[in-house]
Amino acid sequence: MTENSRRPRVAIVVGSLRAESLNLKVGKSIAALAGDRLNVEIARIADLPLYNEDLDPNPPAEWVRFREQIAQMDGVVFCTPEYNRGVPGALKNAIDVGSRPPGEIVWAKKPAAVISVSPYPIGGFGANHQVRQLCAFLDMPMLQQPEAYLGRVTPEKFGADDVVTDQPLKEILSKIIDAYVAWLSLTRARSDV
Ligand SMILES: Cc1cc2nc3c(=O)[nH]c(=O)nc-3n(C[C@H](O)[C@H](O)[C@H](O)COP(=O)(O)O)c2cc1C
Repeated sequence: MTENSRRPRVAIVVGSLRAESLNLKVGKSIAALAGDRLNVEIARIADLPLYNEDLDPNPPAEWVRFREQIAQMDGVVFCTPEYNRGVPGALKNAIDVGSRPPGEIVWAKKPAAVISVSPYPIGGFGANHQVRQLCAFLDMPMLQQPEAYLGRVTPEKFGADDVVTDQPLKEILSKIIDAYVAWLSLTRARSDV
């Protein structure tokens, strides 16, 4: 087994579809900062057809691809904007797609963290807690601290490769990653008992 294959696999699910998304930049920064400890991949949600129970008997290929990707993960980190003090529709749709069919919820038992990112001061608190509420129902153990409502985040805080260059933001992300990595290994060790 290689060093690389021993690292936990973690999906970053980004709640924004925007090419220049601040949340995507935070997701890419996490991948860069945690690359020595986690195998991080950004899970694509932009192409997921809207969830519709009528499609369950013959699910769209995009749903199948997304469900298979999440099912293979050891953990999930949600990076989400706040839309109108709530969770963006695209992210809610992705969470719903992964929650079906009943009994095959791909999210269940996956240790999660929620990071909300906004250019505004409140930092997406409302969206963050809506995602936490969904995760509670989906049986995802949640990293509680540090809370991650990242406000006043602007494009200037990232380099040309989308990785964070702003030192205070880098330190905040590093603390979140350290806590998530430690807690992920604790959760995985407990589930092995
Ligand atoms: C439909 C819509 C609603 C928004 N509502 C909020 C909001 O409730 N709180 C907030 O902090 N920002 C709000 N914003 C601004 C977003 O935080 C901002 O556009 C942010 O850059 C979106 O995240 P992204 O850069 O990852 O795409 C809203 C933006 C849109 C398009």
